[in-house]
Amino acid sequence: MREFDVLALGELNADLILNKIDGEPEIGKEKFAEDMILTLGSSTAIFAANIASLGARTAFVGMIGRDSFGQLVKSSLQVKGVDTSLLIETNKAATGATIVLNYNEDRAMVTYQGTMDMMSFADINKDVFNRTKHVHISSIFLQSGIKKDLIEILSFAQKCGVTTSLDTQWDPVEKWDFDYQHILPLVSVFIPNEKELLLLTASENLEEAIEKIKPYINTCVIKRGSKGSLLIQKDAKNDMPAFLNTEVVDAIGAGDSFNAGFISQFIQGKSFIECQRFGNLTGAINTTAAGGTGAFTSKENIIQIAKEKFNQNIKI
Ligand SMILES: Nc1ncnc2c1ncn2[C@@H]1O[C@H](COP(=O)(O)OP(=O)(O)OP(=O)(O)O)[C@@H](O)[C@H]1O
Ligand SMILES: [Mg+2]
Repeated sequence: MREFDVLALGELNADLILNKIDGEPEIGKEKFAEDMILTLGSSTAIFAANIASLGARTAFVGMIGRDSFGQLVKSSLQVKGVDTSLLIETNKAATGATIVLNYNEDRAMVTYQGTMDMMSFADINKDVFNRTKHVHISSIFLQSGIKKDLIEILSFAQKCGVTTSLDTQWDPVEKWDFDYQHILPLVSVFIPNEKELLLLTASENLEEAIEKIKPYINTCVIKRGSKGSLLIQKDAKNDMPAFLNTEVVDAIGAGDSFNAGFISQFIQGKSFIECQRFGNLTGAINTTAAGGTGAFTSKENIIQIAKEKFNQNIKI
């Protein structure tokens, strides 16, 4: 019997979001923002918080600085029911932060990576791979230490009988260096979005990208925003439309919420179609409230949104 259902392995940072800004930033000038939110950021943290809210026993392995942003990140995960006993605290750098300048539909962001770029396989206590059923990794292009050791981490997980999922997320330097031929056979569920998949495989269209990855994947599910998702396996394909939300509050973290929904069912041994349906639903639920975790405050709230907004009865 393993102690955790899911181990989220990856980056942690604070998001400082400035809203209602009086114009665009200009060098040498000062502007006012009318509203500010300081909150838990990072794709892997949103995944961890939301899959914990869906009932999975979740732990986080990540590196934070010994500073107030580190404490903010830690306590925010704890509030969501995520086990933080495996977090690594260091003096080597500050906890990373993203400053988000929010302008309605669009955002300008600047990230200081800090500790998120420093953790590598050597920092991680290997025992944790025997204490969890599943490991989820995201945002590899923000974490050079994890990216460099990715094949080693995935191989080690496989040896320990742990299933894995990977969402690469965007590459800020846009090099898209990704050895999919060697990485994907080690990943149980690969979960990119459509645009990222094209760039990761240097493909011009989705058909070409799918043909390239097919020999190497176990299961791949491609996220397609309001078009839903596409499940690909060596001998199967399932295109599933979204639970369309016509009153989107924002789509921040929809992809991470999809991952949380899909993996919450995968670890219970549900069929891949059921996992995909649940992923589409939790992606849609994400869009009904502000930020990446706003809709996932409690099981009761999630059940209520599924029923009232999308006419779905779910058991969690
Ligand atoms: N407007 C919407 N209505 C309903 N469902 C949506 C909507 N937008 C997204 N979704 C659901 O959420 C899933 C994930 O969204 P998306 O494809 O935007 O992921 P992503 O690009 O990885 O997002 P992120 O920016 O969080 O990384 C989609 O596959 C879909 O099922
Ligand atoms: Mg994404």
